Amino acid sequence: QVQAFIFDLDGVITDSAEHHYLAWKQLGQELHIPFDREFNEQLKGVSRMDSLERILALGNRQHDFTAEEKEALATKKNEHYKELIKGITEADILPGITELLADIRKHGLKVGLASASKNAFVVIDRLGVGEHFHYIVDAAKVAKGKPDPEIFLKAADALGVPYENCIGVEDAEAGIEAIKAAGMFAVGVGTPESMAKADYVVSGTSELRYNEIIARFQQTK
Ligand code: G6P
Ligand code: MG
Repeated sequence: QVQAFIFDLDGVITDSAEHHYLAWKQLGQELHIPFDREFNEQLKGVSRMDSLERILALGNRQHDFTAEEKEALATKKNEHYKELIKGITEADILPGITELLADIRKHGLKVGLASASKNAFVVIDRLGVGEHFHYIVDAAKVAKGKPDPEIFLKAADALGVPYENCIGVEDAEAGIEAIKAAGMFAVGVGTPESMAKADYVVSGTSELRYNEIIARFQQTK
């Protein structure tokens, strides 16, 4: 019996995964570490500092900076990101999401947000979708990032729902792993290759339909 949906934010509710990519790419250029969208798949869902470490490792420069310098680089990326999300409005909610949130509400299920982003509250606010969420996990209070299940477990605990009755929705490989490690049903938005570990995969958010997701969940029981 499904009791809750727990959503990722960037790349699921809105296209801010693209803004994260562009902001990291800009920092990568400044550091002379170019990377492409394929490499970026590994950054999705991963915390700011862990993402920086992965980019530095790609350029073999992980030992070139002190902890303070790394903090400064991460802050620089965040400044790029904050600039890019300045213009986000309701119009940037991805297709199908408003309808899905309305259907979930109509059926009386709980809704949580499990984003690793410390900018999540700002983005949700700009999108004007805050009222749809019963609980938003504060990324600053999560010790272990995705693929660790902690953030999804925290959301389910706050919603008061057993993990096996939750459906997680993600666009990141690390996120799908986190949902599965939490013992939840995983819906992946992306290519079948990148979402290989998901229980149900759609290629875009417009294909996220309440009835279909519930039917897929029930098939696994
Ligand atoms: C999400 C995104 C990542 C991002 C992380 C931290 O998980 O998918 O791309 O690095 O949040 O975001 P923040 O806004 O705190 O830098
Ligand atoms: Mg995401």
